[in-house]
Amino acid sequence: MTLDGLTALARGLTVPTGFVDASLAAPAPGTIRLTGGIPAPEALPVAAIARASAQVWQDGGGAALQYSPGPGFPALREWIASREGVDPSRIVVTNGGMHGLTLAVLTVVERDAVVAVDDPVFPGFRWALEIATTRTLPVPVRADGFDVDHLAVRLAAGDRIAAAYTVPDFHNPAQVSLSAEKRQALIELAERYGFYVIVDNPYRELRFAGADQGVAAFNSSDRAIHVNTFTKTLGPGWRVGWLVLPEHLVDPVIRLRNRLDVHTSSVTQAIVERLVTAEEPGYDRIVRDAAVLYRERATVLVDALHEHLPGAFEIRTPEGGLFLWPRLTDDGVDPAALFRRAAANGVVYHQGELFAADPRQRSAARHLRFAFGDRTPDQLHEAVRRLAAAYR
Ligand SMILES: Cc1ncc(COP(=O)(O)O)c(C=O)c1O
Repeated sequence: MTLDGLTALARGLTVPTGFVDASLAAPAPGTIRLTGGIPAPEALPVAAIARASAQVWQDGGGAALQYSPGPGFPALREWIASREGVDPSRIVVTNGGMHGLTLAVLTVVERDAVVAVDDPVFPGFRWALEIATTRTLPVPVRADGFDVDHLAVRLAAGDRIAAAYTVPDFHNPAQVSLSAEKRQALIELAERYGFYVIVDNPYRELRFAGADQGVAAFNSSDRAIHVNTFTKTLGPGWRVGWLVLPEHLVDPVIRLRNRLDVHTSSVTQAIVERLVTAEEPGYDRIVRDAAVLYRERATVLVDALHEHLPGAFEIRTPEGGLFLWPRLTDDGVDPAALFRRAAANGVVYHQGELFAADPRQRSAARHLRFAFGDRTPDQLHEAVRRLAAAYR
């Protein structure tokens, strides 16, 4: 098929690879996939959703079948704003996290500008970024998140960036969270050098251990675009998320989306608004129950790795989110060969190299990404047993 007639932008978008390699596209029957990063079906509040949606129609549908204001339904924005601790005028309801990231990129990243990104990085952000640029400055993710000092050194040496991208809570894939001190330091750097921080925070609510490092540093800065989504708590199918924007970016973002999708579906907004503002079960309980479920799964996975593969991995116990990012301790183990044997044995996961932001760095390739959220404890245990057989 010829690419004649396509814009340079459409021609330039890469086909996402790696995530759909042959063994994943056609896994052997009975294969256990640890690939998802998606919520457990049993953590999604289906009965409450049915009630909320019935109420919308019993009440005549009303706003659900009409145009919405560009930034979203007022009561939904207010509910989000009160959780974020900001004025509702700064909330824009989006069609999920990816949409929020794309709006952020289109608004503040000039064509071919450089953007600092987590290394390892959520690949979806790199795909969104391609709309403006492929020039990145990879910044290592440490045990306490994005290495702000590393970026500071590069900026002091003369590097210039339009934005810095990071996932501060329960990082995808690296599982860690950015410390409160580093959140503040990153914002101070952004203010000093005049770039935006694109804060991508879909796992924030799914905490089951450790202390919340807070989002006030982001939500109080004119230099932060805080991107969030209901994907991990209410389900990816909604395509509903939100941006917390500095006041001066609200109008530019809305002008942009007037040309794109106009607004998030009124039907979905109406149901989500009913659901989250209902007293029973209440969003806090939905999220709390989910976190209890994920804590159990994370514990089963970590315990099984210690039991069946003692010493094979350096493992951090997750404090939240949906991922484990263990590192192979034996340099003699070839991760690609291990993956092939594991797939043949009926377990698949994502190889760390898929998340490398700096292809010259081999560190991500020593990791495996296990998504445990949508697998039962029995499946997790069996998955590790199969992995152990492949490892030996
Ligand atoms: C870090 C990160 N950002 C954004 C998203 C995308 O969220 P959504 O499905 O709401 O577009 C994901 C989903 O996996 C994610 O892991």
